[in-house]
Amino acid sequence: MDDTPVLALDAEERRRAGDRLLTLLDDHERGLRKAPIVPDLDRDLLTELLRTPMPAKGIGVDALFDEITDRILPNSTTVAHPRFLAYVQGPPTGIGPYAEAVAAAINQNCNFWQLSPAASVVERSVLTWLGDVVGYPAGADGVLTGGGSLATLSGLAVALHDRAPDFRSVGLQGQPAPLVVYTSAEAHRSVDKAAAVLGLGLDHVRHVPVDDRYRLRVDALAAMVAADREAGLRPFCVVATSGTTTTGSVDPLDPIADLCAAEDLWLHVDGAYGALFLLCEEKRDLLAGCARADSISLDPHKLLFAPLEAGCLLVRDAAKLRSAFAFSSSYLTVAADPLMTDYMDHGPQLSRDFKALKVWAALRVFGVDAFRTAIGGTLELARHLARRIEAEPTLELLAPVELTAVCFGFRGVADHSAVLARLAAEGTALLGPAAVRGRSAMRACVTNYRTTRADVDLLVDRLVAAGP
Ligand SMILES: Cc1ncc(COP(=O)(O)O)c(C=O)c1O
Repeated sequence: MDDTPVLALDAEERRRAGDRLLTLLDDHERGLRKAPIVPDLDRDLLTELLRTPMPAKGIGVDALFDEITDRILPNSTTVAHPRFLAYVQGPPTGIGPYAEAVAAAINQNCNFWQLSPAASVVERSVLTWLGDVVGYPAGADGVLTGGGSLATLSGLAVALHDRAPDFRSVGLQGQPAPLVVYTSAEAHRSVDKAAAVLGLGLDHVRHVPVDDRYRLRVDALAAMVAADREAGLRPFCVVATSGTTTTGSVDPLDPIADLCAAEDLWLHVDGAYGALFLLCEEKRDLLAGCARADSISLDPHKLLFAPLEAGCLLVRDAAKLRSAFAFSSSYLTVAADPLMTDYMDHGPQLSRDFKALKVWAALRVFGVDAFRTAIGGTLELARHLARRIEAEPTLELLAPVELTAVCFGFRGVADHSAVLARLAAEGTALLGPAAVRGRSAMRACVTNYRTTRADVDLLVDRLVAAGP
């Protein structure tokens, strides 16, 4: 008699699932360059998928892998394709899928340490490594999040708890005056979203103008803070960006940190795109000011090539992080252990997956020097692309290239959407649309360790040959 529990696989099914998975991963890796970057969607099939009722009886392991291979994969975007250049999204490291499988198998709940002792230590180890990259002191701590947006949301929550009197009890409703947050006109919309979600309200987000290199203007910031104080409002936080999404500009972190110190403002740095360029010697001076932030968002699912999701919030003073998020409850109490961390006290989540494993595993397997090489390679390719664009009379670079985002366009063309659509349809490359000082642009962001010079040359050659 088969004594396999109802939702478990028997030995033969486990072997089949393993074989099918290995084949799928291997085919995926080998097929990346030839796969369409953007799938030719089978809308009928997707509609049928949508309408399929919940099955009463299962189809079994092989039929499931057939469905994944025949229906899911052909209708998925090849984000790891070397000429997927549209967003700040890297491909996962080679070890990523395997680490994810292990994390799913052991299913540690990274809420309090008793449910995840080794995971608690691994997460702390990853956070310490990342804190060291940023230049944070030993008293810093953090938490891995679902991404940069959630890291910034949590960072602003910590700032509110620290700067708004009695925030935990009275919230925003009990504040004597509205609180105001400042960020640049080029900041990621996750800052606005965080302010809206936290109840600050978009009316209390100031978008500070930028200079000719798309960096927050500190003189304008100072003037806005002064005007708000004059009007009886309460400035409490500045969100600077190290690596804006559109152009990769880095706000002047040191002068902003000086102003924040003088004005008693919390400084959060949105380093989701750019902060991990600190790994590269050539960008260290540019980004050194990250170390002065009260809190910072990073994205291991971008420059550390972790499979989604892996964001990170670091807070310079661990006690402030915990004062925002630690709550006691009789049913979630375990004896404190100095080796362990209860991550439910570092963020809004209770049940949490073991995100740290995929980040830690990749650093263990490849070593940080391999990441420096990969990231350095993307910087060099972005410069190569910029040089090629500058050398073409029909093309025009529309912003300085600080990191790996390259904004450019055809001279005299007011709308690049048709060019972008054509590049994607013919399989040349997926680029993103951008608006640079109100002008339509194309944006290529090199975030892929598989992208080569030949890929960049192919893109430019095709653009020049086909024209706008
Ligand atoms: C500057 C910046 N901040 C925040 C984000 C949002 O990060 P996530 O998608 O991980 O939430 C991005 C995404 O590209 C970004 O470029």
